[in-house]
Amino acid sequence: MKVKLCSGALGAEIEGIDLRTINSDNFKLINDLLLEHKVIFFREQNMSPEEQINLAKLFGPVEEHAYVKGLEGYPEITRLIKDAEEKNQWGEGWHSDVSYNETPTKAVILKSVKIPPVGGDTVFSNMELAWETLDKELKKIVENRRAEHFSLGAGFFIDSYKHFESNGNDAKEYSNHHPIVRTHPETGKKILFVNWTYTKKIEGLEEHESNEVLSKIFEHQSRLDLTCRYSWTEDNIAIWDNRCVIHYAIADFFPGRGLGYERVMDRIAVLGDRPY
Ligand code: SIN
Repeated sequence: MKVKLCSGALGAEIEGIDLRTINSDNFKLINDLLLEHKVIFFREQNMSPEEQINLAKLFGPVEEHAYVKGLEGYPEITRLIKDAEEKNQWGEGWHSDVSYNETPTKAVILKSVKIPPVGGDTVFSNMELAWETLDKELKKIVENRRAEHFSLGAGFFIDSYKHFESNGNDAKEYSNHHPIVRTHPETGKKILFVNWTYTKKIEGLEEHESNEVLSKIFEHQSRLDLTCRYSWTEDNIAIWDNRCVIHYAIADFFPGRGLGYERVMDRIAVLGDRPY
């Protein structure tokens, strides 16, 4: 096995492992790599939907998306399609997956099915480092507070994209409160757990103060020295620890440049626990 670091902040590309050979006996190897690097990438993994689901289940129970219909025959798989002529892409903007749920996603197993010749990289940012490097005054303000995360409603996930269908859950927007600094249940490390897409309010602060603090934190979280960037090829698998990274699917599909190609990903999410 070869481990190639993606940046000084997080992420590793792992060579010499066929993920189809991972089972409950050797799962610790993958989990340890994930805990150490927070996001791990594997190229040339020719996984079927069943094999991808089996891999995901080693991390825990899989969850279906709150609003989006799963792939035909595989409700656990959300197929993310960016049509050739679409500029928008699911996942653009910094976020941590479903942070608005009571028990946000633990890990995501994402498979690249169709990748454009240019554009569509994904960037990840290390929220353990983001907490360590946060300004002392900001740390004091947020350390023992909670923030409110909003689901944004079915329309947010469906209306702007050509190929996304509702799962029939027309539930309106809902929200949950989580500690701004959570503790990783496996490593014990402190993590900055807010994100630009879903976190809208800090409990106990006036609206203007909450907005000001959140915007400073969002700027800090996106510092390039906290990030790594992955350029996909087809049949790759990325696994990220959604408890301690935020990510951003770059929609750099501009007319005359990156536009004109399809991008298709199969996403499976593993249920997490209640942040503390
Ligand atoms: C996501 O945000 O879950 C999707 C990431 C990607 O398509 O690169």
